[in-house]
Amino acid sequence: MAMWLGLMSGTSMDGIDAVLVSFPDNRILIHATHSTPYPDALRQRLIQLSQNHGTPDDIGELDHCVGDLFAQTASKAIENAGAAPTDVLAIGSHGQTIRHQPLGTAPFSMQIGDPNLIAERTGITTVADFRRRDMAAGGQGAPLVPAFHKAFFGSDTEDRCILNLGGIANISWLPGNPHDRVIGFDTGPANALMDAWCQLHTGRPFDDDGHWAQEGIVHQALLGHMLSDGYFSRPAPKSTGKEKFNLEWAKTLAHRHPEVSAEDVQRTLLELTVVSIARQLPQSPEMTIFACGGGTRNSFLMRELRRTCSPLTLSSTADLGLDPQWVEPVAFAWLAKQTLERRSGNLPEVTGASGERILGAVYFG
Ligand SMILES: Nc1ncnc2c1ncn2[C@@H]1O[C@H](COP(=O)(O)OP(=O)(O)O)[C@@H](O)[C@H]1O
Ligand SMILES: [Mg+2]
Repeated sequence: MAMWLGLMSGTSMDGIDAVLVSFPDNRILIHATHSTPYPDALRQRLIQLSQNHGTPDDIGELDHCVGDLFAQTASKAIENAGAAPTDVLAIGSHGQTIRHQPLGTAPFSMQIGDPNLIAERTGITTVADFRRRDMAAGGQGAPLVPAFHKAFFGSDTEDRCILNLGGIANISWLPGNPHDRVIGFDTGPANALMDAWCQLHTGRPFDDDGHWAQEGIVHQALLGHMLSDGYFSRPAPKSTGKEKFNLEWAKTLAHRHPEVSAEDVQRTLLELTVVSIARQLPQSPEMTIFACGGGTRNSFLMRELRRTCSPLTLSSTADLGLDPQWVEPVAFAWLAKQTLERRSGNLPEVTGASGERILGAVYFG
């Protein structure tokens, strides 16, 4: 069976997710998975680099180290399936974003994790650098997953919204009426700010199940200041990252309210995620929301989202047959397939590009 391998590491910089998958009759069949958490020192260096603290040496070395780890993660997933590299048609590697600047006079998006190393170590043709062709065509280069969501999660009877809760949150609105266009954009932070604030105050990389946030209360004035950031009201196309929503952003706002305790800030950041998503959902009274990404493992976040989005139904992509943890890596396996079949991978109505484009660069195995 024709298998494809998807490799993804998002803005959370928690680690690399690999999935070995096939698409029989336009369905998704997962054969094996593997996740490699980033070692602490590597993660810290990546976070530093993403905040513009780094030299060309840092970029080069990290490109190598991350590429190496991506290759190892791919090989482990293949091993877990009891398969051989020759069974895999291609790898789609998103890489690790270290900087995403879609606006301005010189827009760019930079992913590292050298695909030459991945192709060399695995012997498998590797597709990477998916975002920049869309940007060259005037798009944001993001989000790219809506085309995948449209291909596999659309329905001709109901409106659906796929909500990815990674470091950043992005939505894909999939209309039940095929004459309507897909809407997709980054709504702002999902876990990024909560993770950064939690790391600073507790030393833990994330707030397990939102336990710490539950000890606090929402500070309405602080929430109001956060929500007044222009990003939330800007119309799509739009995309963002940790170069904007980072610890400095949270600290600057929190310091304007020195009376607010650290756990109240954490609770308020969780509320920011919930409210900024709910306010930006397309108006569609009947739609069902299907969540995916690491945020679905935070039951407190999910409960608050469900409450705020009510009467809309909030479920997870598990109800569409795909475990929420593997949606993004499967999307990049599919994007590699699109590229090698010379099909487009972007939705211009989402990214703002001037047209559909075949995405990515190919490194032959
Ligand atoms: N048990 C959990 N409780 C709370 N948050 C969690 C849990 N497990 C994962 N997460 C959150 O999910 C994030 C990782 O999600 P992921 O979808 O991999 O994001 P990204 O695509 O940005 O890498 C973690 O940084 C953390 O914030
Ligand atoms: Mg991740």
